[in-house]
Amino acid sequence: MSPKPNLLLRYMSTADLPYVMEIDRLSFEIPWSEKSYRYEMNESEQSFMVVLEWYQERTVTRLQKLLHIQPFAERRVVGYGGMWFISGEAHISSIAVHPRGRGRGWGEILLAGMVRRGLMLSAEEVALEVRISNHRAQNLYRKYEFKTVEIKPRYYRNNNEDAFDMRMNVLDAAVCSRFEERYSSLFAAFQLSDHFSDFSPPRNTPKP
Ligand SMILES: CC(C)(COP(=O)(O)OP(=O)(O)OC[C@H]1O[C@@H](n2cnc3c(N)ncnc32)[C@H](O)[C@@H]1OP(=O)(O)O)[C@@H](O)C(=O)NCCC(=O)NCCS
Repeated sequence: MSPKPNLLLRYMSTADLPYVMEIDRLSFEIPWSEKSYRYEMNESEQSFMVVLEWYQERTVTRLQKLLHIQPFAERRVVGYGGMWFISGEAHISSIAVHPRGRGRGWGEILLAGMVRRGLMLSAEEVALEVRISNHRAQNLYRKYEFKTVEIKPRYYRNNNEDAFDMRMNVLDAAVCSRFEERYSSLFAAFQLSDHFSDFSPPRNTPKP
């Protein structure tokens, strides 16, 4: 029997772009350009781009061992997200899970990772916009105690749809404590490693 798959939350890298852009194309009516992704990842000091990677270690059979075939891991980017941190506000710019992976709690992991990255940066507010027709995403945000504070009329240019401006009040200690409980419970539910929410982006890591 294969071991249980693992999940890793980590910073997006250039090598992830084909997978990220495929998920973007399958998820949104106005996908981001490759140039935008490269800018957000490598140049913008305010941007924090994350991917969720699914991986499974493959053990080798006795015959494969005899043939000197090494164990290997199968890896796949199954979702991604983006957050800007500007003037104390963590603003979630994007979040998507591959259509074949939805409904397994992976969107929740991405959202929790970005909220926690914001908290680690001492954000005073976590904000996002969502289409008023996108009930699935709104449910996810409400689960994490985001509240609608305003409607932004005709926010989406492709069809003039309104957006809900949703915010999580991270200055409320009770909200933060319930968030930490939810974040911790994700580790109990999944074989999850988080190399994002408590880590600086690779662009900020001092070079040896
Ligand atoms: C929104 C999205 C990221 C959610 O990811 P997901 O992996 O499917 O969601 P999860 O399995 O983690 O579910 C988390 C919560 O989302 C909500 N949710 C998920 N699927 C739902 C559905 N089919 N109907 C209603 N609510 C749903 C629920 O509140 C769920 O919590 P629960 O399981 O305790 O009920 C995903 O649907 C997606 O990529 N959509 C396309 C891109 C998009 O719309 N992004 C948001 C832009 S603002």
